Amino acid sequence: MQTDLRGRDLITTQEWTREELDTVLDVAFRLKRERALGIPHPLLRDKTLAMLFFYSSTRTRSSFEAGMAQLGGHAAFIESRTTQIAHGDTAKEIGEILGRYFDAIAIRNVDWQIGNRYIRDVAEASRVPVFNMQCDIYHPFQVLADLMTIIEKKGDPRGKTITVSWAYAASYQKPLSVPQSLILLMTRFGMNVRLVHPPEFQLMPEIVEQARENARRSGGTFEIMDDFDAGFRDADVVYPKSWGCWLTTEDPEESARIAQKYTDWIADERRLALAKEDVIYMHCLPADRNIEVTDAVIDGPHSVVYDEAENRLHVQKAVMALTMR
Ligand code: CP
Repeated sequence: MQTDLRGRDLITTQEWTREELDTVLDVAFRLKRERALGIPHPLLRDKTLAMLFFYSSTRTRSSFEAGMAQLGGHAAFIESRTTQIAHGDTAKEIGEILGRYFDAIAIRNVDWQIGNRYIRDVAEASRVPVFNMQCDIYHPFQVLADLMTIIEKKGDPRGKTITVSWAYAASYQKPLSVPQSLILLMTRFGMNVRLVHPPEFQLMPEIVEQARENARRSGGTFEIMDDFDAGFRDADVVYPKSWGCWLTTEDPEESARIAQKYTDWIADERRLALAKEDVIYMHCLPADRNIEVTDAVIDGPHSVVYDEAENRLHVQKAVMALTMR
């Protein structure tokens, strides 16, 4: 267990050691158990969290806000468009000033080739921890919740096969942050990770290289496939979700045209039957129902999406309690 996490930023799990991540999971399980038992845990009494959103959210906003209240503190919801950011407040000003009012700053900025840079610039100027609530590259709290869910449902993740697959969605060109963070984290924990996507939907090469290296070090495996059905075969965990073809084009109309070639990439019961009998279906949500995944799958017996969403609360409370003391 690593207890010296006070003051640490969480921008990507890749910057935390395996022992530090194990500590987060350990604390998250404790806080989940205590909440189930009705045991209060006001570990951050009088502490405050600034939550700065450049982009909408259901789960992230709600779970950070509820989590801070349950830890005895307070979270302030701040939308970029109702601040003076548009009139000149820079990342430096946000880090310097919010860092003096609050005990941590959490930010969601998913703008392509801007979000991660912005969060790092705020962190550079801030005297308090900075948390990445999703950027263009990473979504660390989502995948920590995903790992917690896999451990709950499957036990030791080592040697289990997880398929992180692209799926078709019509709504918008989604960030790469979830699949990239999944392949980075699950390879750290010795899983056999399959990344499945059509050729136009590659992830960032440097992230793929890090995932390969993580797998080599942990004793897991990492492979890239382009056959949606083959990705499901004999998997323990399937995580089919849409993402944009950002490395092919940044134009949303062209991206939509390319995605149209793959409208049959939907997670359905036939495909799920190719996986192991006790496979779990995961999705970070929101999902495009009956486009990305059928109702029968997302509402079916293999789906763990609501436990997965709940675990956002517990891992975020664990990170806040460990870093904001
Ligand atoms: N999964 C997730 O981050 O959900 P929100 O976009 O609703 O926060």
